Amino acid sequence: MATIEQIKAPIAKEMDKFESTFRNSMKSSVPLLNTITHYIVKRKGKQMRPMVVFLTAGMCGGITESTFRAAALIELLHTATLVHDDVVDDSNERRGFFSINALWKNKIAVLVGDYLLSRGLLLSVEHGEFDLLKITSNAVREMSEGELMQMEKARRLDIKEDMYFTIIRQKTASLIASCCAAGACSAGGNIETIEKMRLLGETIGIAFQIKDDLFDYELTNKTGKPSGADIKERKMTLPLINALQTTDEATKKRIINIVKNNNNDPKKVAEVIDFVLHSGGMEYALNKMNEYRDKALAMLQTIPESEYKKSFIELIRFTTERES
Ligand code: IPE
Ligand code: IPE
Ligand code: MG
Ligand code: MG
Repeated sequence: MATIEQIKAPIAKEMDKFESTFRNSMKSSVPLLNTITHYIVKRKGKQMRPMVVFLTAGMCGGITESTFRAAALIELLHTATLVHDDVVDDSNERRGFFSINALWKNKIAVLVGDYLLSRGLLLSVEHGEFDLLKITSNAVREMSEGELMQMEKARRLDIKEDMYFTIIRQKTASLIASCCAAGACSAGGNIETIEKMRLLGETIGIAFQIKDDLFDYELTNKTGKPSGADIKERKMTLPLINALQTTDEATKKRIINIVKNNNNDPKKVAEVIDFVLHSGGMEYALNKMNEYRDKALAMLQTIPESEYKKSFIELIRFTTERES
């Protein structure tokens, strides 16, 4: 598997310049905000979304000034959502360190998330980029809807496979879809190209979230969040949904009861994990993830060969093989 550095090679200069745009776009005259955004910038993530923006632009006509704003805007939105997500999920860890809510409490984390969101949107408003604004605002709407739908399902614990896919398409794939759409748009792609790329990003995004959900059942935890975290949040993901679908009524009742009433008991959570690991649910989810990966790779077939396309193919593989 190619490393992130290898995948970045054709866009290394652009990623460097992106980092300073990203950092500068968070600056504020409020000292507390600067302390917090400094903390955020120091613990950066994989930066997959800006990479997707640049590589798509490269494949669709060429990287422009507008591509840089698209990349910064989307990483700002992504960061804002993660800050809010950790409040919503009551999670104390992010990227292997303390989350913003863990260090500064929920009240501050909510406001910091709003600040990042507004700085992102302003970046496109200030340059009159309304196509970009439209693409990304739609993604933000879908992410909120997806997260809310997930919360409703966590309350009722009646999620089926098709609903799982609707939720992950909204909460995760929509933003990655917007990376591809915005990348193509910034490169001057026509409406058909933008839509084709959007669909490609959505397909990658679904594979990406299935991978994220598989992590929760893996024994070693490299992701910087405790394994079994989803069960503690009463979040039913594909491995568990499938395991429940293929088991007998009594076991199903017992497992759902644990998720509902004993999700704070590590022993009981371990029992659910064990049940999933022995049910075939992992293999099922893995197969589904690979189906989406292959669908995404097939969508690239009509795109002309280039160093950007080569890297993009590696990035798709990375999505499903990554270890964090
Ligand atoms: C985490 O996304 C949130 C999900 C959609 C699962 P990433 O795994 O891309 O997060 P960072 O930016 O690399 O930390
Ligand atoms: C990720 O959702 C955040 C969004 C997509 C909005 P999760 O709650 O599943 O992701 P992690 O596991 O906390 O990163
Ligand atoms: Mg979360
Ligand atoms: Mg969440």
